Amino acid sequence: MRIIAKNLVQNYEGLHAVNDISLEIPEGKIFGIIGKSGAGKSTLLRMISLLERPESGEIYFDGKRVDNLKKKDLIQERRKIGMIFQTFNLLTSRNAERNVAYPMEICHTPMEEIKKRCSELLELVGLTSKAKVGISKMSGGQKQRVAIARALATNPSVLFCDEATSALDPGTTRQVLSLIKEVQKKFNLTVIMVTHQMEVVRDACDEVAVINNGKIVEQGEVEKVFSNPQSDVTRDFLSNLKTETAKDAIEKGMLDDKMVTFSKGGKYILRFPENKTGEPVLSRITKSQNVGFNIFGAGVQYVKGKELGTLQMDIIGSEDDVEKVIKELESEGIVVEEAKI
Ligand SMILES: Nc1ncnc2c1ncn2[C@@H]1O[C@H](COP(=O)(O)OP(=O)(O)OP(=O)(O)O)[C@@H](O)[C@H]1O
Ligand SMILES: [Mg+2]
Repeated sequence: MRIIAKNLVQNYEGLHAVNDISLEIPEGKIFGIIGKSGAGKSTLLRMISLLERPESGEIYFDGKRVDNLKKKDLIQERRKIGMIFQTFNLLTSRNAERNVAYPMEICHTPMEEIKKRCSELLELVGLTSKAKVGISKMSGGQKQRVAIARALATNPSVLFCDEATSALDPGTTRQVLSLIKEVQKKFNLTVIMVTHQMEVVRDACDEVAVINNGKIVEQGEVEKVFSNPQSDVTRDFLSNLKTETAKDAIEKGMLDDKMVTFSKGGKYILRFPENKTGEPVLSRITKSQNVGFNIFGAGVQYVKGKELGTLQMDIIGSEDDVEKVIKELESEGIVVEEAKI
């Protein structure tokens, strides 16, 4: 389903929570909406998921206006929507299977069909063995899987995710994102993913809109926004993003390992102790040795007032020269690790 929002406005007691937002969300893509806390993301999501009427503006599902529908028609449109939340919003009095069954019970789906669909969906999210387990006995990742299965129970064409991975650790976030990507492909869903984590945009989204103070400040394909950010808010989000190794990207399925070619010098992580972060060690070495450096990422951390630096890079040169350079770096007190790949 293709979603168009035109000039959406929502005010709360004089506060412009959403202040004239227009968006086109293409069908069959994962569309990210990123912004800082209070930017208006959830308010925007509540309007386009038809949970809350906009004060003004229009919303279209596949060309049909849906923001001004009467209750009965609204319920009909809402059937096309599945939602997942940061806090899972599951029924704690029910087990996993009964949670997945819940939206089908509301739609008066025959019992036999509910049973069949529950087992299909729990298999899809990898929780067949947990069907009878109570929600309170599940981990955050398992709860979000149940929530995804429940959201898919009524065969929606759109899936809205409001901070779906914000309560999860990085490994579990990775698994939940790959599950969302898998179901998106399988059912050709349009997915709208609200987040304050740029990692989520990077790892899961095709397009992104950056919002700030109730307005869109930047929008476009993720690759373009990452390679040439236009707004300060976007730059800020990007600067807080941890540099990734190729190994991380391969593990997440974001990079084909066959496409990774390493230059002769290999790939290294250099750790600079406090007294070395202020020194131009590398430029000194390039002058005295026959090697080049190709830098992929760099960062400084302040730990208890001490400045510690990290560099991720290739050392390019003959085997002997590279070895000599590594020895020299180590003699300067710099730790040189070979990135495991
Ligand atoms: N029902 C409401 N009544 C009054 N003010 C509200 C209501 N909902 C949101 N707001 C206000 O509107 C602004 C935008 O809130 P919103 O929840 O959309 O932000 P958000 O981007 O989702 O933030 P977060 O990342 O913290 O979830 C905030 O200043 C918030 O306090
Ligand atoms: Mg929110």
